[in-house]
Amino acid sequence: MAKQKKTEAPTADIATEIRDRIIWLRAEVLEHQRAYHQLDAPSISDAQYDALVRELERLESQYPELVPGRSPVDQVGFAPKREFKEVQHRVPMLSLNNAFSAEDVEQFCSRLAQNLGLPMTSPDLVFSAELKFDGIAVSLRYESGVLVQAATRGDGSVGEEITANVRVISDVPKQLSGLDLPEVLEVRGEVLMRRKDFQELNERQSARGDKVFVNPRNAAAGSLRQLDPQVTAARPLGFYAYGTGEVRWAAGRELRLHTHSEWLDALGRWGLPVAAERIGRVDMAGLQRFYAEVLARRPELPFEIDGVVYKLESLALQARAGYVSRAPRFAIAHKFPAEEASTRLLDIDVQVGRTGALTPVARLEPVFVGGVTVTNATLHNEDEISRKGIMIGDMVWVRRAGDVIPEVLGPIVPLRPAHARPFVMPDCCPACGTPSIREPNEAVSRCPAGLTCQAQRKQAFLHFAQRRAMDIEGLGEKVVDQLVDQGMVKTLADLYQLSVSKLARLDRLAEKSAQNLLDQIDRSRSASLSRFLFALGIRHVGEKTARDLAQHFGSIKAIRAATHTELLQAPDVGPVVAASIRGFFDSPDQLAIVDALLKEIRIERLDDRPAVAPAAIEALPFAGMTVVLTGSLAGMTRDQAGDWILSLGGKLSGSVSAKTSLVVAGEAAGSKLDKAQQLGVRVIDEPAFLAIIAPYQQED
Ligand code: IVH
Repeated sequence: MAKQKKTEAPTADIATEIRDRIIWLRAEVLEHQRAYHQLDAPSISDAQYDALVRELERLESQYPELVPGRSPVDQVGFAPKREFKEVQHRVPMLSLNNAFSAEDVEQFCSRLAQNLGLPMTSPDLVFSAELKFDGIAVSLRYESGVLVQAATRGDGSVGEEITANVRVISDVPKQLSGLDLPEVLEVRGEVLMRRKDFQELNERQSARGDKVFVNPRNAAAGSLRQLDPQVTAARPLGFYAYGTGEVRWAAGRELRLHTHSEWLDALGRWGLPVAAERIGRVDMAGLQRFYAEVLARRPELPFEIDGVVYKLESLALQARAGYVSRAPRFAIAHKFPAEEASTRLLDIDVQVGRTGALTPVARLEPVFVGGVTVTNATLHNEDEISRKGIMIGDMVWVRRAGDVIPEVLGPIVPLRPAHARPFVMPDCCPACGTPSIREPNEAVSRCPAGLTCQAQRKQAFLHFAQRRAMDIEGLGEKVVDQLVDQGMVKTLADLYQLSVSKLARLDRLAEKSAQNLLDQIDRSRSASLSRFLFALGIRHVGEKTARDLAQHFGSIKAIRAATHTELLQAPDVGPVVAASIRGFFDSPDQLAIVDALLKEIRIERLDDRPAVAPAAIEALPFAGMTVVLTGSLAGMTRDQAGDWILSLGGKLSGSVSAKTSLVVAGEAAGSKLDKAQQLGVRVIDEPAFLAIIAPYQQED
């Protein structure tokens, strides 16, 4: 972190305020360091902690005279737990400074160049780039290739002896292989728990009524620092090496390793696990590319990472650059947006789903996590809430990874306020007041009122109108809320009786939008059987089942008439699905709706999604791309175009961002096109799009 320039002395009042703030920040930072390093139970996210440290560093460097004494920001980790033997690190285990943006990385490079007296363009200014594992730093000492000692980082100089615990980690070789080994080799790396192992461990813990861990890092830390190695052995830990500590060679046997990457290669050759996701000898542009690539692949990695690490390749230059307080000048961690954060659980609402499922939803104090501000998160069901021990009013951990729905992981029990209260699942539907039911073997409570429940009715309309069902653009939540609340539509078929004059009664729906909506509804009068079946919202009949049923039975008449046994003949239809379909068509209310719909809708084909000949996914034209469709296309519907993109390996997104790979812009494309142009995202028009899909259309 760059020291700020000293500023003018503050006035007395302001000085007191700043001093108090520094004292408060120091206490906070110390407390969080203790919670993280000694108790393995952090109560704020890394990003929140980093923000405190940054503020403290800034104030301390601006006003060094205000609060003398040692600052917790100069301290690495925390002193060892008393229960463990101490290990004096012969080469200190240091920390890394953080970069949070491309500019921070540029600054790091230019400061480093300046320190070394090199021009920014120097060919020696090249770096290795690797993963920043989110685990626990350990040092492994090998003598003549044999693992003799393992230690935690501790405070950087003195760590805890955890040899017996590390010996039970199968990733850690007890004996290295190779004829060119150093006599003494200290390997520095990270112990972690892979996501899958973490999930399985938590399932086991929960089944036994034991503590569940909030994230893999805490699980790894808790498992590693067990006094009984048997406990560690039962916990699936992994290890990756990323560097070295003390190294001693037998006389005349020293290998000439000049770069960090050469060292990692050597560690790998000797049998130590080194992650494959790394590159060597890259310039600054290469670092930024690596960052973007790893960020995109983050969800696929089997373990969690919180960023990437860049290290100057040349060991000679590393030595010249040296260290500043607790971190090397030659390396930096480029952090990813945090996927977890803590915030207050203000309340728990209960939402009613399309099939009547009552889902508790957390109302949160807004918190920035996973790159967005989150105010709601799912809590799944009441058992999940009690399993996690969550109370209303708690500080909780929230996770949002990639595009996944935000989730409440668990409470921070030490911070529980006195007024925290348990959640009680209401015994009536919050939308219609009908007593809810919970089947003995189900985790979910349901409102049994079906389409007479306003909430379920609204969901049924939204489901019917969605892109993958009848694709009625403009029939979104706001319009549906009003249509249902004002009693303008009761059953799905009522949609086809709407008129501009009726729609004009809705709030904020201009005549043009009303006409557009009617046009869209009209367009849906011609449909495929698979879409229609899916749109009906029969429980357990998702898109794929709907397609299978359409292919198998060929007509709605045949499906309606099919017996339970006949339904079981369709691909992937089991007793639960068959019973649900039969139950649906046996209900006179549902049948009446289907009949009314069929007076309005013509089923003109079985299926209208393109079937692409199987090919290697990477070979498909939209493989790995996130594509946004905007405007209207002349040759096909927006929906058909979307299906082509999905079938040809792409992902669809509704909004343009830096992550968008391609925008397909039809007629009258508006703000999305502008945004794409601003961001420099590639845009193609309809003819270009048709040209891409043409070869596949011919095969169809
Ligand atoms: S190098 C002298 N490389 O991050 C440089 N550290 O924030 C020392 N970490 O204590 C660290 N992945 O626990 C390095 N590829 C990597 C890393 C890594 C994770 C951890 C390590 C370190 C902490 C610093």
